[in-house]
Amino acid sequence: MQESCASGMDHDLRDLAELERLILQQISESSTIDELEGVRIRYLGRKGEISALLKHIGNLAPEQRPVFGAAVNALRDKVTQMIAARKAELDREALEQSLARDTIDVSLPGEVFELGGLHPLTKALREITSILSSMGFTVYESREAETDDMNFVKLNVPKGHPARDMQETFYLTGTTLLRTHTSPGQIRGMLALEGKLPVRFIVPGRVYRRDQTDASHHPVFFQVEGLAIDADVTFKQLRGVISALMNRFFGQDVKIRLRPSYFPFTEPSCEVDISCVFCKGEGCSVCGNSGYLEVAGAGMVHPQVLINGGYDPEEVSGFAFGFGLDRLAMLKYGIDDIRLLYGNDKRFLSQFRGL
Ligand code: DAH
Repeated sequence: MQESCASGMDHDLRDLAELERLILQQISESSTIDELEGVRIRYLGRKGEISALLKHIGNLAPEQRPVFGAAVNALRDKVTQMIAARKAELDREALEQSLARDTIDVSLPGEVFELGGLHPLTKALREITSILSSMGFTVYESREAETDDMNFVKLNVPKGHPARDMQETFYLTGTTLLRTHTSPGQIRGMLALEGKLPVRFIVPGRVYRRDQTDASHHPVFFQVEGLAIDADVTFKQLRGVISALMNRFFGQDVKIRLRPSYFPFTEPSCEVDISCVFCKGEGCSVCGNSGYLEVAGAGMVHPQVLINGGYDPEEVSGFAFGFGLDRLAMLKYGIDDIRLLYGNDKRFLSQFRGL
């Protein structure tokens, strides 16, 4: 090209026209920003052809310079302009493509996030805990794997005691077992307090028994144990606490009945009944026409149990209770089969979501 430019001026101008056509074609055929940049460098770059032509002006005869110079400058301006225009076009195309590619179709159905809820046992336990903590009870989390000694012996149930028969037990080893009730938490809680007064805590948690499984029995279930010890704790206070708890949990119209009973670790002992929440005490199939439902065992802590926990029965007295949490939850929410609480069936559980 430089060779041809160096020849006669008419020829040079024709070459310029041809060069312009070539460059404009290359510009319009550039389909990417990179390709276009290649074209720019090839013609307008420091070593580009148009730059070379501009330098070449100085070599021309003075009378040739104005016309040729004007033509090369015009070519440079035109090419510069066309490259800028093509670049704008390519930028717009790229933007449009990315917009098309990244479009979110807002009419598509969204992902449905299922809302979880609390298990009815969790709900019931939280409510019981909150009511009892308002009366000054703290929560002591004991253990599920217990020793035979804590689960039975320290609660006045030595080996061979008939009360053991009532609690078919899962033994882990010869001397360790899955606790059959939360009552060993009484001993562990007392020992942890090292004789301090007052003692006022609950022990909520799972318990295990080799029971048969039916609508009201399950090998795993929950209890909420309670223990209060102080200088002058009375049976009347036990009744007060249980009544207040039941009335706040089930409603003011529920009546409480304490029935004499026997537990090796309390003396005297009682069983706690509430008036049937279904028939309001009239008698129905749920309460076996008795009008009452059993919900707990309770009593005054046996002197030997106080001693086993590090307290002196000459100086203090205490009451204890043990509620069946499953029973409470079933009565409150109208659940007629304990197995539903352990089946993890979402159709069942989802009914408690909003409660
Ligand atoms: N541990 C007893 C059971 O599982 C329930 C019980 C009765 C707990 C009397 C107590 C109590 O704290 O005083 O059958």
